[in-house]
Amino acid sequence: MAINVKNNVFWVGKVDWELRMFHGHELSTHHGTTYNSYLIKEEKTVLMDTVWSPFAEEFLRELPEAVDIDKIDAIISNHAEPDHSGAMRDLMEMIPDVPVYCTANGAKCLKGHYHKDWNFKIVRTGDTLDIGNGKKFVFIEAPMLHWPDTMFSYLTGDNILFTTDAFGQHYATDQIWADLVDPAILWDEDMKYYANIIAPWSKSVQVKIRELKGMNLPIDMICTSHGACWRGADVAKAIDKYESWANEYKENRVAIVYDTIWGGTRVMAEEIAKGIHLADPHVIVNVMNLGAADKNDVLVEVFRSKALLVGSPSHNKCALSSVGGFIEEMRGMAFRGKKAAAFGCYGWSGEAQKHLNATLAEVGLEVVDEGIKHQWEPDEKAMTGFVEYGRAFAKKC
Ligand code: FEO
Repeated sequence: MAINVKNNVFWVGKVDWELRMFHGHELSTHHGTTYNSYLIKEEKTVLMDTVWSPFAEEFLRELPEAVDIDKIDAIISNHAEPDHSGAMRDLMEMIPDVPVYCTANGAKCLKGHYHKDWNFKIVRTGDTLDIGNGKKFVFIEAPMLHWPDTMFSYLTGDNILFTTDAFGQHYATDQIWADLVDPAILWDEDMKYYANIIAPWSKSVQVKIRELKGMNLPIDMICTSHGACWRGADVAKAIDKYESWANEYKENRVAIVYDTIWGGTRVMAEEIAKGIHLADPHVIVNVMNLGAADKNDVLVEVFRSKALLVGSPSHNKCALSSVGGFIEEMRGMAFRGKKAAAFGCYGWSGEAQKHLNATLAEVGLEVVDEGIKHQWEPDEKAMTGFVEYGRAFAKKC
């Protein structure tokens, strides 16, 4: 179904109401997603990006309701990841000679995925595509937002910046615009998308936003490839959020994540939380069991927090796998400017805390002390010690 975006620009994407895991089983998508594809019908007809391959047949069945496919003059591939290029293989069987505008890395990715040498037109920042009626696309390379191939496309006249993954959210909605959807879900999903997908490339975000501001383009709308798009006052708001998230973002929150075998490390987590709260009644402390919680939601909480405490009992001379795996995720996320320490119970050897503290430092957190460990089950005296540790930790954050 084609939905008008502005003038001769139409949304021709797919709402995926059912999706609950994305990137294989790496990312939870509690609210589904959309794959936003756009059709621009000026003197030239341009299709921008497509949809994920499970929806290719449906996409190509519905597209002729909006345009005669033979009349498409150009395809713009802002990002070659399969959730946006998945229908390209079938589409290009129908119109094999149509030029595909993308970056050099985009062509490499598309060839790597589909093993076809389509009519690639390689573009760089500042290159343009004239589409008639006084309008043109200006291309802006945006490497690592979210792959090396990514570019933004700016449509003059309509003043629309197409940003593919950047500023998107995994949010299935039949509304195009952010101002028409539930704001609580919208902003939660916007931050979740940043924290889980874009955060590793925060330096690239800083560079791109500086560059965009320097270009002084009038931007009336930001059209993303996932979820709702931004218009009016939301444009600046969406950009401001990214700018703040890209700069060692933190709120007055502390995340305590742990796993436990017989409950001792859980007791430690909860008593430490009490101590932090006593030291600063305004701080929000979240205690999350990594064995049970959604890891992507936990990552959002860590992203928001100024400090992270990681707890695990010593198990086979290591931390539990749920905790070890989570810290490995943290390595990739490259969160910066956060304080950290480790804690946990042990029976006879107690290696986990030292090992965890070393890994926390390795992944870029500032380890403020050697943490706290406890042999066997905590008694009342031990619990008082955990509270005191929490108080002391809070003062270091
Ligand atoms: Fe939505 Fe990086 O693909």
